[in-house]
Amino acid sequence: MTPNRAHNFSAGPAVLPLEVLQKAQSELVDYQGSGSSIIEMSHRGPEYTEVDRKARERLTRILGLGDDFEILFYQGGASLQFLMVPYNFMFGKTADYINTGSWSKKAIKEAKVFGDVHTAFSSESTNFNRIPRDEELKFSGKGEYLHFTSNNTIFGTQFRNEPVSNGLPLACDASSDFLSHPLDMKRYGVLYSGAQKNAGPAGLTIVILRKDFLGKAHTENVSSMLSYPIQAGTLFNTPPVFGVYIFNYVMEWIESKGGLEALDRMNRDKAAILYDEIDRDDFYLGTAEKESRSLMNVTFRLREDALEKEFIEDSKKTGMSGLKGHRSVGGMRASIYNACPKESVEALISFMQEFRRTKG
Ligand SMILES: Cc1ncc(COP(=O)(O)O)c(C=O)c1O
Repeated sequence: MTPNRAHNFSAGPAVLPLEVLQKAQSELVDYQGSGSSIIEMSHRGPEYTEVDRKARERLTRILGLGDDFEILFYQGGASLQFLMVPYNFMFGKTADYINTGSWSKKAIKEAKVFGDVHTAFSSESTNFNRIPRDEELKFSGKGEYLHFTSNNTIFGTQFRNEPVSNGLPLACDASSDFLSHPLDMKRYGVLYSGAQKNAGPAGLTIVILRKDFLGKAHTENVSSMLSYPIQAGTLFNTPPVFGVYIFNYVMEWIESKGGLEALDRMNRDKAAILYDEIDRDDFYLGTAEKESRSLMNVTFRLREDALEKEFIEDSKKTGMSGLKGHRSVGGMRASIYNACPKESVEALISFMQEFRRTKG
């Protein structure tokens, strides 16, 4: 029987592959004949060790990481990484940051605790409606890394390619487009992402560190829980076991779909039909500059606040959820991450057409 699922456009925690949820459901009480749930067992026992190993192996294959990278399964969300990146790699020195939205600003605020932040670019004056072109980036010339937010969940903009970095290792908050398209991983010193959009449930944060960059981390008088070198390569404390368990199945799902290139094609396809609908006339207004548009979070508005309210209310009545824009910007936002089926995007488009027909 097909379960009754909403067309879920939540920005995060967000829709997960149905197959993954069903698999977890089928073995939640008795994990593979063990008589216990995976969340009732030691994180150092053979069952969980195998889950952890498979999850790392799959992620390594999917991103083509080879032996040059360490993977950490962490708690504390991307927000803790805003602190950990400068704590480990900036400490009293300078780092370059690109400011393309609320999450970038939060990362910058944390970094300022540890050293000098050089803002290489900011789109704040145009309400974060775009990302920079490469030639607009102004480097400090003494940065330890270049930090950027690859996808701006709130404003609906995305770096489709890595920015130029003047030779600096990239430090990336990839929380809202992680594993949605291929990445040039050798350019990254550190990449982090909360799992709760494309990779699993909230509570797990994935941190990927290039080993040579990790070697530069500050190690004197550090707090163990905040130190990448201490955390890397060991289970220092109890990991978020349920998160890693689901993450492993999401990785299996990604491989079954054909990996990141295949997902990228699907994501482009879904976003294209939705943006086409927005651009059809001036009833719906896309908020991001066209060249900067996100394939993950599609943000748009209507001419009047009252009409937007009606749109959100009516969409709920037709089985859609999560379309309200972030409280700081208003309007609408359709988050169409990897696991959002094309049928959901098509259902949204039909709804938008009908709404335009009756209210336009
Ligand atoms: C791009 C981005 N960075 C950081 C965060 C914060 O993540 P967390 O709540 O896991 O700390 C979010 C949350 O939505 C996000 O979208």
